[in-house]
Amino acid sequence: MLEAKSFELFPEAASSIAGHVDAFYAFMVLVSAFFSLLIAFLVVYFAYKYRHRPGENIVYAPYDDHSLSGMLLEVVWTAIPLGLSMIMFVWGVSIYFTESRPPADSLEIYVTGKQWMWKIQHMEGAREINELHIPVNRNVKLTMTSEDVIHDFFVPAFRTKADVLPGRYTTEWFRATKVGSYHIFCAEYCGTKHSGMIGTVTVMSESDYNKWLGEGSGEGSMAEQGQALFNQLGCGNCHASVVNNQNGRCPNLVGLFGSTVELKNGQRVRADEAYIRESVLFPQSKIVAGFDDYMPTFKGLITEDGMLKLIEYIRSMRNKNGVISSATPLPVQTTDGPRPAGSTPAKAVPAAKAAPALPAAR
Ligand code: CUA
Repeated sequence: MLEAKSFELFPEAASSIAGHVDAFYAFMVLVSAFFSLLIAFLVVYFAYKYRHRPGENIVYAPYDDHSLSGMLLEVVWTAIPLGLSMIMFVWGVSIYFTESRPPADSLEIYVTGKQWMWKIQHMEGAREINELHIPVNRNVKLTMTSEDVIHDFFVPAFRTKADVLPGRYTTEWFRATKVGSYHIFCAEYCGTKHSGMIGTVTVMSESDYNKWLGEGSGEGSMAEQGQALFNQLGCGNCHASVVNNQNGRCPNLVGLFGSTVELKNGQRVRADEAYIRESVLFPQSKIVAGFDDYMPTFKGLITEDGMLKLIEYIRSMRNKNGVISSATPLPVQTTDGPRPAGSTPAKAVPAAKAAPALPAAR
């Protein structure tokens, strides 16, 4: 909650990962505190115990570095820190992996950072600034980019943050576990008003959230807005696929999102957000096999917000007719094994059977 409260060491824990992060943090604090105190105590204790007494001659005992007890001592003081640091490593990596792999069933929300505000777009069409409304107990995935410099989307109560970079898409996900309002901070210094680049996450019950979504923007869903932009920019003149699910002068877009695309140079790439963005702004950089360098750049003609709408539109084209027809074969792995020639395929291959999203760049 945002109201001022009595002194607290930790922000509220309001996401599914928060407990894990806090436990890990507590473990590291306890280990560090234990060894700090132990070492401080031994420094004082030995300084007292072996202090120089008047009239005493200092005698240095010969040191045998091959003695069994010496070896044992060295093994112990190596093995214990090694074990402890390995526990920290494995535990930390497991939390990092969890945080960097959004579950497939996540609600998709788009975030654009800009000096000095957060612009949020919901797939259903609602848009907000410095506010993020989400349902409780649902996995939420943010796909984020920046219009200018590096920002960082940080929700302390969710114990998660990720850099928001110009020209790239990064992701962040969480599952809020408590209805309430929580702070959003920008956690990367981004100019004069960096400290003012703040906002609020409002976690609502599923029914309240649906009601809130229903109030909408009146501009239609993101995909619909993307479609309007698609028509306005004349994309359909060449990408005829949208009309007849066939290749035009330019590749078929139906079923493209999430599939693997073969390029002219023999490379294979995954058609994700970054690929689509690059293909719109820098069409020459990745030419699809079987096509010519025909498309002009749309750099300067489309904003980052518009790009997200376009991506959402192209994403919505997957599975449109239940079948993918594409000049580029999709290497979708099935466990069926080779099918006898002439037999009828059991079912159309789903387009969404793509590899899990790559971990976000940090
Ligand atoms: Cu944006 Cu700091």
